[in-house]
Amino acid sequence: MQSVLAATRSSQLALSKRAFSTSVRRWQAVPQQKPVLMKEFKIYRWNPEEPEQKPKLQSYQIDLNQTGPMARPFNILDALIKIKNEIDPTLTFRRSCREGICGSCAMNIDGQNTLACLCRIDRNGSKDSKIYPLPHMYIVKDLVPDMTQFYKQYKSIQPWLQNDNPPEKGEFLQSPEDRKKLDGMYECILCACCSTSCPSYWWNQDEYLGPATLMQAYRWIADSRDSYGAQRKEKLQNEMSLYRCHTIFNCSRTCPKGLNPAAAIAKIKLELAAD
Ligand code: SF4
Ligand code: SF4
Ligand code: FES
Repeated sequence: MQSVLAATRSSQLALSKRAFSTSVRRWQAVPQQKPVLMKEFKIYRWNPEEPEQKPKLQSYQIDLNQTGPMARPFNILDALIKIKNEIDPTLTFRRSCREGICGSCAMNIDGQNTLACLCRIDRNGSKDSKIYPLPHMYIVKDLVPDMTQFYKQYKSIQPWLQNDNPPEKGEFLQSPEDRKKLDGMYECILCACCSTSCPSYWWNQDEYLGPATLMQAYRWIADSRDSYGAQRKEKLQNEMSLYRCHTIFNCSRTCPKGLNPAAAIAKIKLELAAD
C-alpha cells in the first residue's frame, strides 16, 4: 500500500514540476525583437537666447520600433518626447494631457496644423517628417508659439454666461433642444489650429478675431441661458472683428477635433444680417 502511495505522490510531484516549468517558460518568453525602422524628423529650432542664429530645421533619426509604450499607436508627441529624453534635452515644445484634450501640443506637422498627440507617425521610413510651430505666430522657443494675442482675443468676447435675471432658486434651466444647439462648439479645446491656418487671421491678427474665438462668441450667442446676445453681436458689427472671414474653410478642414468653426461664423453673419 505504501509503495502505491509513494508512486502516486512522485507522479503528482512530477506533474506539478512539469506544470511549474511550463509556466516559468511562458513567463520567461522573450518578445521577438522588431527590426529597426529608422525615421528622420526635421524639427524647427530657434533659441531666443541666441538671437544672432537664424531659425533652422534640425534633423533627428529615431527607431520607430522603440518609440512609445508597446500596444499603443506611435504618435508625433511620442517621437518628440523620445528625442527630448534620449537625444536632445534642449528641444522645446508644449504638451500636457497626451489625449487630445488640453490643446497645448498644437503644431504644424507635414504641412497641417494638428495636435502632435493625435497625429500618428507615417511609418514609411524613407519619408522624413517636418515639424514646425503653428504658422504666423511669434515664437517663444522652438515649437512653442506665443499665445498672448490669441488668449487676449478669447477674453475679449467675455466667454462666460451673462444674465441679469438669474433664477430665484437653483440653476439656469435649458431644454434638451436648446442644449443641443451648443453641440459642436462647446467641445473646442482652444488649440488655435484653426485660427493659425486662416489666411485672413495671418494678415489681420491684430483686429480679426479668427475662427476659434468667433466660434466661442457664437457658442454664447446661441446659449438660451445667456441674455447678452444683442451686446455680443453688437461688438462684432464692424469691418474687422468678423467680416474678414471670406469663407475659405481652411479652419474647418484643419480642426483636429472635427469641429466646424466656419459654419459658426456663417451663422453669426446670418443673425447679424437678420437683425
Ligand atoms: S472660413 Fe473664415 S475663418 Fe475659416 S479659414 Fe476661411 S476665412 Fe478663416
Ligand atoms: S475649433 Fe478646433 S482647431 Fe479651432 S481651436 Fe477649437 S478645437 Fe482647435
Ligand atoms: S498633449 Fe494635450 S492635446 Fe496634445
